[in-house]
Amino acid sequence: MYRIGQEEIDAVARAIRSKDFFKINGSGREVFRFEEEWKALTGSAHALLMSSGFGALVSALVALGVGPGDEVLVPAYTYIATALAVTAAGAVPVIVETDETLTISVEDAKRHISQHTKAIIPVHIQGFPCDMDAVTALAKTYGLAVVEDACQADGGVYKGRYLGTIGDVGAYSFNYYKVITSGEGGLLVTDDRALFERALIFHDASAVAFFGDQLDNVTQPVFGGTEFRISDITGAILREQLKKLLALIGDLRKNHDALRDMLDGRLTVLPSHDPQGGCPTTLALSFGTAEACRAFTARCAEKGLALTVPIDTGKHVYANWTQIMEKRGALHPAMDPFRMPANAGLQTDYRPDMCPRTLDTLSRTAYAAIDPDWDEQALATAARILNGSLE
Ligand SMILES: Cc1ncc(COP(=O)(O)O)c(C=O)c1O
Repeated sequence: MYRIGQEEIDAVARAIRSKDFFKINGSGREVFRFEEEWKALTGSAHALLMSSGFGALVSALVALGVGPGDEVLVPAYTYIATALAVTAAGAVPVIVETDETLTISVEDAKRHISQHTKAIIPVHIQGFPCDMDAVTALAKTYGLAVVEDACQADGGVYKGRYLGTIGDVGAYSFNYYKVITSGEGGLLVTDDRALFERALIFHDASAVAFFGDQLDNVTQPVFGGTEFRISDITGAILREQLKKLLALIGDLRKNHDALRDMLDGRLTVLPSHDPQGGCPTTLALSFGTAEACRAFTARCAEKGLALTVPIDTGKHVYANWTQIMEKRGALHPAMDPFRMPANAGLQTDYRPDMCPRTLDTLSRTAYAAIDPDWDEQALATAARILNGSLE
């Protein structure tokens, strides 16, 4: 969460004072307006606001027809929600190494493609853009669907295109820790009308079937789904947050680049698939060894600058995905993708040491969080600590 205040308070008050903040027939139509405003900004043809980024990922996979019998390629470094979205759809995740940018390695993804592979989920983790040209080319060659997980990259770009708009379907999160936030929330985007309709039906099965005219222009057959609907209170907050997004990304970019340019030449910045793009919430430094990385972060901490070593970030590291590693994909055995007959023989040989390259890169990397509100003095202090922490 970066910038939130009176505008959002007024928006919530507006929604509540309307006494009618049910998304479907709410007089403010805040959710629908937010969807329109997001589409106008990013160029997506369809947008569906819902309760979480996880919900958007599951809805995306369901819309694409991913289910039992399917494998989905996911990177070894992403929040566990990405992998659990795959099991929630009844498919199994195939864990793929990351490259030197800590995003999905397209080379390793290719090695894991089998006759069962249905989709790939490139994750723009920490706002680092994936190599979307290579992902798209791979997907085209092998007939895979691309679900972009842009949950950590709201408003970021890759070669001038908004992250989340490049694949078949994109998912964003607006939980408290994201670039813009409504406490909880998620968004699905796609240019494909049929996928949008299937996601619409799935994400809100009961209301779509009952309220308003939502099904009037839907040509896809209805099916039983789940409930990821959200209220106009969330829509109202996000409309205000969206107004702040571009300035926020601009300030993050400015401070990220300024700090990078102030670094001592002996410090190495992690490479990027779009150094001018991405969603610059983090300046990532790369070290030759895990020991050198630890020693550097300890010296920074002594001087008052807390860095994060991503190997320490719990459920963002595949080796800590207990549910996947121990193959408990659902509460009921008959609904557990790891026990379903349709999934017998798929690639589910998970081991904590299966992606050594990712573990190595994660141990040799340190993140400095970028503050969009740093002034010159704060920037100079951060640069002085980083440069002064070299041996
Ligand atoms: C990469 C990634 N994917 C998916 C999610 C799930 O988003 P949510 O918490 O909104 O369900 C998150 C949230 O932290 C995430 O970081």
